[in-house]
Amino acid sequence: MDPINVSDFEALARERMSTAAFDYYSGAAGDERTLAENRAAFGRITVWPRVLVDVSRIDTSTTVLGQTLSMPIGLAPTAFNKLAHPDGERAAARAAGAAGTLMTASTISTCTLEETAEAASGPLWFQLYVYKDRGITRELVARAESAGYRAIALTVDTPVLGRRERDVRNGFVLPPELSMRNLETCQGVNADSTRWSAGSSFSAYVHGLFDTSLSWSAVEWLQSLTRLPVLLKGILRPDDARRAVEAGVAGIVVSNHGGRQLDGAPATIDALPPVVSAVEGRVEVLLDGGIRRGVDVLKAVALGARAVLIGRPYLWALAAAGEDGVKRVLDLLRTELVLAMALAGAPTIREITRDLVSTSSDPPGVSVFPALPR
Ligand code: FNR
Ligand code: LAC
Repeated sequence: MDPINVSDFEALARERMSTAAFDYYSGAAGDERTLAENRAAFGRITVWPRVLVDVSRIDTSTTVLGQTLSMPIGLAPTAFNKLAHPDGERAAARAAGAAGTLMTASTISTCTLEETAEAASGPLWFQLYVYKDRGITRELVARAESAGYRAIALTVDTPVLGRRERDVRNGFVLPPELSMRNLETCQGVNADSTRWSAGSSFSAYVHGLFDTSLSWSAVEWLQSLTRLPVLLKGILRPDDARRAVEAGVAGIVVSNHGGRQLDGAPATIDALPPVVSAVEGRVEVLLDGGIRRGVDVLKAVALGARAVLIGRPYLWALAAAGEDGVKRVLDLLRTELVLAMALAGAPTIREITRDLVSTSSDPPGVSVFPALPR
């Protein structure tokens, strides 16, 4: 099949991956309600297209943290990309660069952050998990900075791992030929930080090694380690967003980890507007979770997202066709975004404004449209 949308890539990935690997990528926590809500919530948002707008030229370019992107769509950090393709994170980095957008490399990648950086030609961010052994964090941050990464995204929603029942049923383990290469190449890290022991689980690995005591003081500590801008990924509450601004972060990613952490957390597109109001433009707000169509990107931008990140869509594409697959899924989402912008009468990202959409939580009868001249 020649994939023509994200769901076609999902079908191809299902065909080409082992059940355990596909389920690790596609599954989520508990009853997977938040995973479903991430999608369903986009369906509850209405777009109110303007007419008779010159859309002969559509410009999707934007900036995030001052870094120029061809479109407000980047790659979210995802672990173990080599489960999808032998080139793993390097293929994703090459594809993101070719598409003129950013990639976020996970701490628990299956390529080293240096290998990923060598393959990247676009902006590269490093997603950080803080281990109990703080020396690991210090080293990872220093390595990322010297390898040319341009931001650190501290993941704050994973003090412990959500319970993914598909992985429990499948007895998901990392194939022996794969490992967490960043940890393997950290000085003085003992072997049990680089993979979980046979018979135990990924969840036990995370519970054993990630720092469950992480608190707001860690943000200041992290900022003391690096000159790079720090974003917090996994914020859902407006009060936490305000605290993040007060802590001096450069950005926030409204995320529920693709529904993989707390099942019952809100859909990210529902959580976005209160966070945007709380930060009052003082930091850039990104969103991930459930982006599957170009019009979803338009909805997120209209509700205040500076850009969105995609996780599963790029993993499925990686499994379907490696680097070319990731490039094609990014091109496909860009094409869908261009069409949505043209039909909505918003030829530039700046013209994707709040009045273009209405949400189910807008008070009934309140018009989001600009007041019409009397
Ligand atoms: C993730 N995600 C994730 N997040 C993070 O901060 N560090 C990580 O290592 C991972 N690993 C990971 C693996 C897999 C297989 C998935 C699906 C997700 C979460 C990811 O960054 C993002 O928040 C979600 O994937 C966004 O939702 P969608 O686009 O997958 O619907
Ligand atoms: C996951 C962790 C690695 O979602 O972030 O699988």
